[in-house]
Amino acid sequence: MSEIKVEQFPIKLEVEKHLKYLKELNNHQDELEYWLSEALRLNGIYWGVTATYILDHPEIYDSKEISKFILSCQNEDGGFGGCTDHDSHLLYTLSAIQVLAICDTLSEVNKDKVVKYVAKLQNPDGSFSGDEWGEVDTRFSYCALSCLKILHRLDAVDVPKAVEYVKKCMNFDGGFGSVESAESHSGQIFCCVGALAIVDRLDIVDADKLGWWLAERQLPNGGLNGRPEKLEDVCYSWWVLSSLSIIDRIHWINKEKLINFILSCQDTETGGFSDRQGDMVDVFHTLFGITGLSLLGYPNLAKVDPVYCMPVSTIERLNIKTRTYN
Ligand code: FPP
Ligand code: ZN
Repeated sequence: MSEIKVEQFPIKLEVEKHLKYLKELNNHQDELEYWLSEALRLNGIYWGVTATYILDHPEIYDSKEISKFILSCQNEDGGFGGCTDHDSHLLYTLSAIQVLAICDTLSEVNKDKVVKYVAKLQNPDGSFSGDEWGEVDTRFSYCALSCLKILHRLDAVDVPKAVEYVKKCMNFDGGFGSVESAESHSGQIFCCVGALAIVDRLDIVDADKLGWWLAERQLPNGGLNGRPEKLEDVCYSWWVLSSLSIIDRIHWINKEKLINFILSCQDTETGGFSDRQGDMVDVFHTLFGITGLSLLGYPNLAKVDPVYCMPVSTIERLNIKTRTYN
Protein backbone atom coordinates (compact mmCIF):
# COMPACT_ATOMS: atom_id res chain seq x y z
CA MET A 1 0.00 0.00 0.00
CA SER A 2 1.55 3.33 -1.07
CA GLU A 3 1.95 5.89 1.69
CA ILE A 4 -0.31 8.96 1.53
CA LYS A 5 1.59 12.28 1.72
CA VAL A 6 0.17 15.74 2.51
CA GLU A 7 1.99 17.25 -0.52
CA GLN A 8 0.04 15.02 -2.93
CA PHE A 9 -3.07 17.15 -2.52
CA PRO A 10 -3.75 20.73 -3.67
CA ILE A 11 -5.70 21.46 -0.43
CA LYS A 12 -4.33 20.70 3.05
CA LEU A 13 -6.24 19.62 6.15
CA GLU A 14 -6.90 22.78 8.22
CA VAL A 15 -6.26 21.16 11.62
CA GLU A 16 -6.06 24.41 13.64
CA LYS A 17 -9.27 25.80 12.08
CA HIS A 18 -11.17 22.56 12.78
CA LEU A 19 -9.99 22.54 16.39
CA LYS A 20 -11.18 26.13 16.81
CA TYR A 21 -14.55 25.22 15.26
CA LEU A 22 -14.93 22.18 17.53
CA LYS A 23 -13.87 24.08 20.65
CA GLU A 24 -16.35 26.89 20.02
CA LEU A 25 -19.35 24.63 19.37
CA ASN A 26 -20.43 24.94 22.98
CA ASN A 27 -19.95 28.71 23.13
CA HIS A 28 -22.91 29.65 20.97
CA GLN A 29 -25.61 29.47 23.61
CA ASP A 30 -26.98 32.83 22.46
CA GLU A 31 -27.80 31.42 19.02
CA LEU A 32 -31.10 29.81 17.97
CA GLU A 33 -29.30 26.87 16.35
CA TYR A 34 -27.78 25.86 19.69
CA TRP A 35 -31.24 25.49 21.25
CA LEU A 36 -32.76 23.85 18.18
CA SER A 37 -30.12 21.14 18.45
CA GLU A 38 -30.89 20.48 22.14
CA ALA A 39 -32.54 17.09 21.45
CA LEU A 40 -29.32 15.91 19.82
CA ARG A 41 -26.90 17.44 22.34
CA LEU A 42 -25.53 14.07 23.45
CA ASN A 43 -24.96 12.87 19.86
CA GLY A 44 -23.31 16.24 19.11
CA ILE A 45 -20.89 15.78 22.01
CA TYR A 46 -19.95 12.31 20.72
CA TRP A 47 -19.35 13.69 17.20
CA GLY A 48 -17.25 16.60 18.53
CA VAL A 49 -15.22 14.65 21.08
CA THR A 50 -14.42 11.84 18.62
CA ALA A 51 -13.40 14.33 15.90
CA THR A 52 -11.08 16.05 18.38
CA TYR A 53 -9.43 12.79 19.43
CA ILE A 54 -8.90 11.75 15.80
CA LEU A 55 -7.32 15.16 15.12
CA ASP A 56 -5.01 14.08 17.95
CA HIS A 57 -5.79 17.06 20.19
CA PRO A 58 -7.91 15.63 23.04
CA GLU A 59 -6.77 18.44 25.34
CA ILE A 60 -9.17 21.02 23.84
CA TYR A 61 -12.13 19.65 25.83
CA ASP A 62 -12.51 19.33 29.59
CA SER A 63 -13.31 15.61 29.88
CA LYS A 64 -14.47 15.98 33.52
CA GLU A 65 -17.05 18.63 32.54
CA ILE A 66 -18.20 16.55 29.59
CA SER A 67 -18.59 13.40 31.66
CA LYS A 68 -20.57 15.34 34.28
CA PHE A 69 -23.02 16.51 31.61
CA ILE A 70 -23.30 13.02 30.08
CA LEU A 71 -24.08 11.48 33.48
CA SER A 72 -26.80 14.13 33.98
CA CYS A 73 -28.60 12.69 30.92
CA GLN A 74 -29.05 9.21 32.43
CA ASN A 75 -32.67 8.46 33.39
CA GLU A 76 -34.19 6.21 36.06
CA ASP A 77 -34.78 3.49 33.41
CA GLY A 78 -30.98 3.31 32.92
CA GLY A 79 -30.97 4.75 29.39
CA PHE A 80 -29.76 8.19 28.31
CA GLY A 81 -31.75 11.04 26.76
CA GLY A 82 -30.40 13.48 24.14
CA CYS A 83 -30.16 16.12 26.87
CA THR A 84 -30.84 16.37 30.62
CA ASP A 85 -34.51 15.46 31.36
CA HIS A 86 -35.15 14.05 27.86
CA ASP A 87 -36.54 10.53 27.30
CA SER A 88 -34.12 7.63 26.92
CA HIS A 89 -33.25 6.25 23.48
CA LEU A 90 -30.66 3.71 22.30
CA LEU A 91 -29.08 6.28 19.94
CA TYR A 92 -28.20 8.56 22.87
CA THR A 93 -27.35 5.68 25.16
CA LEU A 94 -24.65 4.49 22.74
CA SER A 95 -23.27 8.03 22.33
CA ALA A 96 -23.13 8.43 26.12
CA ILE A 97 -21.26 5.17 26.64
CA GLN A 98 -18.87 5.97 23.76
CA VAL A 99 -18.00 9.41 25.17
CA LEU A 100 -17.49 8.06 28.70
CA ALA A 101 -15.28 5.32 27.23
CA ILE A 102 -13.22 7.82 25.20
CA CYS A 103 -12.84 10.12 28.24
CA ASP A 104 -11.96 7.10 30.42
CA THR A 105 -14.77 7.86 32.88
CA LEU A 106 -16.88 4.70 32.38
CA SER A 107 -16.29 3.77 36.03
CA GLU A 108 -18.57 6.66 37.03
CA VAL A 109 -21.72 5.25 35.39
CA ASN A 110 -24.16 2.71 36.81
CA LYS A 111 -23.38 -0.01 34.23
CA ASP A 112 -25.95 -2.55 35.43
CA LYS A 113 -28.73 -0.04 34.88
CA VAL A 114 -27.53 0.68 31.32
CA VAL A 115 -27.27 -3.04 30.53
CA LYS A 116 -30.78 -3.66 31.84
CA TYR A 117 -32.16 -0.81 29.72
CA VAL A 118 -30.52 -2.12 26.53
CA ALA A 119 -31.44 -5.77 27.12
CA LYS A 120 -35.11 -4.87 27.64
CA LEU A 121 -35.26 -3.42 24.13
CA GLN A 122 -34.54 -6.76 22.42
CA ASN A 123 -37.63 -8.25 20.73
CA PRO A 124 -38.46 -11.98 20.47
CA ASP A 125 -37.27 -12.06 16.79
CA GLY A 126 -33.83 -10.78 17.89
CA SER A 127 -34.30 -7.20 16.59
CA PHE A 128 -34.00 -4.14 18.84
CA SER A 129 -36.43 -1.27 19.37
CA GLY A 130 -34.90 2.20 19.71
CA ASP A 131 -36.93 3.06 22.80
CA GLU A 132 -40.04 2.07 24.71
CA TRP A 133 -42.25 3.18 21.77
CA GLY A 134 -41.02 0.27 19.72
CA GLU A 135 -39.61 1.43 16.34
CA VAL A 136 -37.38 -1.36 15.00
CA ASP A 137 -34.32 -0.65 12.82
CA THR A 138 -30.94 -2.34 12.24
CA ARG A 139 -29.40 0.92 13.54
CA PHE A 140 -30.66 -0.14 16.95
CA SER A 141 -29.17 -3.64 16.63
CA TYR A 142 -25.81 -1.94 16.12
CA CYS A 143 -26.32 0.53 18.99
CA ALA A 144 -27.30 -2.23 21.42
CA LEU A 145 -24.46 -4.61 20.51
CA SER A 146 -21.79 -1.88 20.42
CA CYS A 147 -22.91 -0.49 23.77
CA LEU A 148 -22.94 -3.91 25.45
CA LYS A 149 -19.59 -4.89 23.94
CA ILE A 150 -18.00 -1.68 25.30
CA LEU A 151 -19.43 -2.61 28.71
CA HIS A 152 -18.26 -6.25 28.31
CA ARG A 153 -21.86 -7.39 28.81
CA LEU A 154 -22.95 -9.06 25.53
CA ASP A 155 -24.12 -11.94 27.72
CA ALA A 156 -27.17 -9.84 28.68
CA VAL A 157 -28.86 -10.36 25.26
CA ASP A 158 -29.57 -13.25 22.89
CA VAL A 159 -26.69 -12.78 20.42
CA PRO A 160 -27.62 -15.66 18.02
CA LYS A 161 -31.16 -14.19 17.72
CA ALA A 162 -29.72 -10.70 17.12
CA VAL A 163 -27.56 -12.16 14.32
CA GLU A 164 -30.57 -13.99 12.86
CA TYR A 165 -32.47 -10.70 12.57
CA VAL A 166 -29.55 -8.85 10.92
CA LYS A 167 -29.21 -11.75 8.46
CA LYS A 168 -32.91 -11.39 7.51
CA CYS A 169 -32.19 -7.77 6.52
CA MET A 170 -29.53 -8.81 3.98
CA ASN A 171 -30.51 -8.21 0.33
CA PHE A 172 -29.80 -9.95 -3.01
CA ASP A 173 -27.17 -7.23 -3.79
CA GLY A 174 -25.14 -8.12 -0.70
CA GLY A 175 -26.23 -4.96 1.16
CA PHE A 176 -28.50 -4.46 4.17
CA GLY A 177 -31.58 -2.34 4.89
CA SER A 178 -33.24 -0.83 7.96
CA VAL A 179 -35.71 -3.73 8.37
CA GLU A 180 -36.52 -6.94 6.47
CA SER A 181 -37.09 -6.27 2.70
CA ALA A 182 -35.92 -2.64 2.94
CA GLU A 183 -33.53 -1.46 0.19
CA SER A 184 -29.77 -1.49 0.75
CA HIS A 185 -28.46 1.77 2.20
CA SER A 186 -24.82 2.44 3.14
CA GLY A 187 -25.72 3.74 6.61
CA GLN A 188 -27.61 0.55 7.39
CA ILE A 189 -24.78 -1.51 5.86
CA PHE A 190 -22.36 0.06 8.34
CA CYS A 191 -24.77 -0.84 11.16
CA CYS A 192 -25.26 -4.46 10.03
CA VAL A 193 -21.64 -5.19 9.09
CA GLY A 194 -20.51 -3.45 12.30
CA ALA A 195 -22.98 -5.45 14.39
CA LEU A 196 -21.79 -8.71 12.81
CA ALA A 197 -18.14 -7.73 13.37
CA ILE A 198 -18.84 -6.98 17.05
CA VAL A 199 -20.16 -10.51 17.61
CA ASP A 200 -17.57 -12.09 15.29
CA ARG A 201 -20.09 -13.27 12.64
CA LEU A 202 -18.72 -11.63 9.47
CA ASP A 203 -18.96 -15.09 7.86
CA ILE A 204 -22.58 -14.16 7.06
CA VAL A 205 -21.49 -11.34 4.73
CA ASP A 206 -20.87 -11.98 1.01
CA ALA A 207 -17.78 -9.75 1.03
CA ASP A 208 -17.20 -9.73 -2.75
CA LYS A 209 -20.80 -8.91 -3.60
CA LEU A 210 -21.09 -6.29 -0.87
CA GLY A 211 -17.63 -4.87 -1.67
CA TRP A 212 -18.67 -4.43 -5.32
CA TRP A 213 -21.89 -2.58 -4.32
CA LEU A 214 -19.97 -0.35 -1.91
CA ALA A 215 -17.15 0.41 -4.39
CA GLU A 216 -19.78 1.47 -6.94
CA ARG A 217 -20.74 4.30 -4.58
CA GLN A 218 -17.68 6.30 -5.75
CA LEU A 219 -18.64 9.02 -8.26
CA PRO A 220 -16.39 10.62 -10.90
CA ASN A 221 -15.69 13.57 -8.52
CA GLY A 222 -14.19 11.11 -6.00
CA GLY A 223 -17.01 11.44 -3.43
CA LEU A 224 -19.19 8.54 -2.27
CA ASN A 225 -22.99 8.38 -2.29
CA GLY A 226 -25.20 6.32 0.03
CA ARG A 227 -27.32 4.60 -2.61
CA PRO A 228 -27.42 4.44 -6.43
CA GLU A 229 -28.54 7.70 -8.14
CA LYS A 230 -27.87 9.84 -5.03
CA LEU A 231 -25.46 12.75 -4.64
CA GLU A 232 -22.03 12.41 -3.02
CA ASP A 233 -21.88 13.33 0.68
CA VAL A 234 -18.96 13.48 3.14
CA CYS A 235 -20.77 11.35 5.74
CA TYR A 236 -20.72 8.44 3.28
CA SER A 237 -16.94 8.64 3.38
CA TRP A 238 -17.62 7.03 6.75
CA TRP A 239 -20.59 4.70 6.19
CA VAL A 240 -19.17 3.24 2.95
CA LEU A 241 -15.48 3.32 3.79
CA SER A 242 -15.77 1.82 7.27
CA SER A 243 -17.85 -1.05 5.80
CA LEU A 244 -15.23 -1.62 3.09
CA SER A 245 -12.52 -1.56 5.74
CA ILE A 246 -14.32 -4.12 7.92
CA ILE A 247 -14.59 -6.52 4.96
CA ASP A 248 -10.98 -5.79 3.89
CA ARG A 249 -11.83 -4.12 0.58
CA ILE A 250 -10.92 -0.47 1.17
CA HIS A 251 -8.48 -0.73 -1.77
CA TRP A 252 -11.47 -1.21 -4.13
CA ILE A 253 -12.00 2.56 -4.30
CA ASN A 254 -9.67 5.34 -5.45
CA LYS A 255 -8.25 6.70 -2.17
CA GLU A 256 -6.56 9.78 -3.60
CA LYS A 257 -9.75 10.95 -5.34
CA LEU A 258 -11.78 10.48 -2.15
CA ILE A 259 -9.20 12.37 -0.05
CA ASN A 260 -9.37 15.24 -2.56
CA PHE A 261 -13.17 15.24 -2.34
CA ILE A 262 -13.21 15.24 1.48
CA LEU A 263 -10.62 18.03 1.69
CA SER A 264 -12.68 20.12 -0.76
CA CYS A 265 -15.63 20.02 1.70
CA GLN A 266 -13.75 21.90 4.46
CA ASP A 267 -14.62 25.50 5.19
CA THR A 268 -11.08 26.84 5.14
CA GLU A 269 -12.14 30.06 6.89
CA THR A 270 -14.42 28.96 9.74
CA GLY A 271 -13.23 25.34 10.06
CA GLY A 272 -15.57 22.33 9.94
CA PHE A 273 -16.79 20.17 7.02
CA SER A 274 -20.06 20.27 5.10
CA ASP A 275 -21.82 17.41 3.27
CA ARG A 276 -20.53 18.74 -0.06
CA GLN A 277 -18.56 21.73 -1.32
CA GLY A 278 -20.16 25.12 -0.61
CA ASP A 279 -22.79 23.95 1.93
CA MET A 280 -22.90 24.99 5.60
CA VAL A 281 -20.57 23.07 7.92
CA ASP A 282 -21.88 20.99 10.84
CA VAL A 283 -20.30 18.79 13.52
CA PHE A 284 -21.78 15.54 12.09
CA HIS A 285 -20.05 15.97 8.71
CA THR A 286 -16.93 17.30 10.45
CA LEU A 287 -16.60 14.02 12.35
CA PHE A 288 -17.06 11.88 9.25
CA GLY A 289 -14.71 13.99 7.11
CA ILE A 290 -11.97 13.52 9.71
CA THR A 291 -12.65 9.82 10.42
CA GLY A 292 -12.82 9.19 6.66
CA LEU A 293 -9.38 10.77 6.22
CA SER A 294 -8.06 8.70 9.13
CA LEU A 295 -9.30 5.45 7.55
CA LEU A 296 -7.67 6.50 4.27
CA GLY A 297 -4.30 6.87 6.01
CA TYR A 298 -4.07 10.70 5.80
CA PRO A 299 -0.95 11.74 7.79
CA ASN A 300 -0.83 13.00 11.39
CA LEU A 301 -4.28 11.76 12.42
CA ALA A 302 -5.03 9.29 15.20
CA LYS A 303 -6.35 5.93 13.97
CA VAL A 304 -10.11 5.36 14.11
CA ASP A 305 -11.64 1.91 14.57
CA PRO A 306 -14.05 1.19 11.65
CA VAL A 307 -16.40 -0.96 13.75
CA TYR A 308 -16.84 1.32 16.77
CA CYS A 309 -16.10 4.76 15.23
CA MET A 310 -13.91 5.50 18.22
CA PRO A 311 -10.15 6.02 18.54
CA VAL A 312 -8.19 2.76 18.22
CA SER A 313 -6.37 3.79 21.43
CA THR A 314 -9.71 3.69 23.32
CA ILE A 315 -10.63 0.30 21.84
CA GLU A 316 -7.23 -1.05 22.91
CA ARG A 317 -7.58 0.35 26.42
CA LEU A 318 -11.04 -1.27 26.70
CA ASN A 319 -9.58 -4.55 25.47
CA ILE A 320 -12.50 -5.24 23.12
CA LYS A 321 -10.74 -5.44 19.77
CA THR A 322 -11.31 -8.68 17.91
CA ARG A 323 -8.93 -8.06 14.99
CA THR A 324 -6.92 -5.40 13.13
CA TYR A 325 -8.42 -3.57 10.15
CA ASN A 326 -6.48 -1.83 7.37
C1 FPP B 1 -27.55 7.72 7.10
O1 FPP B 1 -28.47 8.58 7.62
C2 FPP B 1 -26.93 6.90 8.18
C3 FPP B 1 -27.47 5.81 8.79
C4 FPP B 1 -28.78 5.27 8.46
C5 FPP B 1 -26.66 5.09 9.86
C6 FPP B 1 -26.81 5.68 11.22
C7 FPP B 1 -26.03 4.88 12.23
C8 FPP B 1 -26.16 4.99 13.55
C9 FPP B 1 -27.12 5.96 14.14
C10 FPP B 1 -25.35 4.10 14.48
C11 FPP B 1 -24.34 4.84 15.32
C12 FPP B 1 -23.28 5.47 14.49
C13 FPP B 1 -21.96 5.62 14.84
C14 FPP B 1 -21.02 6.29 13.91
C15 FPP B 1 -21.37 5.13 16.11
P1 FPP B 1 -29.17 9.76 6.81
O2 FPP B 1 -30.44 10.05 7.52
O3 FPP B 1 -28.21 10.90 6.64
O4 FPP B 1 -29.48 9.09 5.40
P2 FPP B 1 -29.80 9.77 4.03
O5 FPP B 1 -28.47 10.27 3.49
O6 FPP B 1 -30.37 8.66 3.18
O7 FPP B 1 -30.74 10.90 4.31
ZN1 ZN C 1 -24.49 13.48 5.06
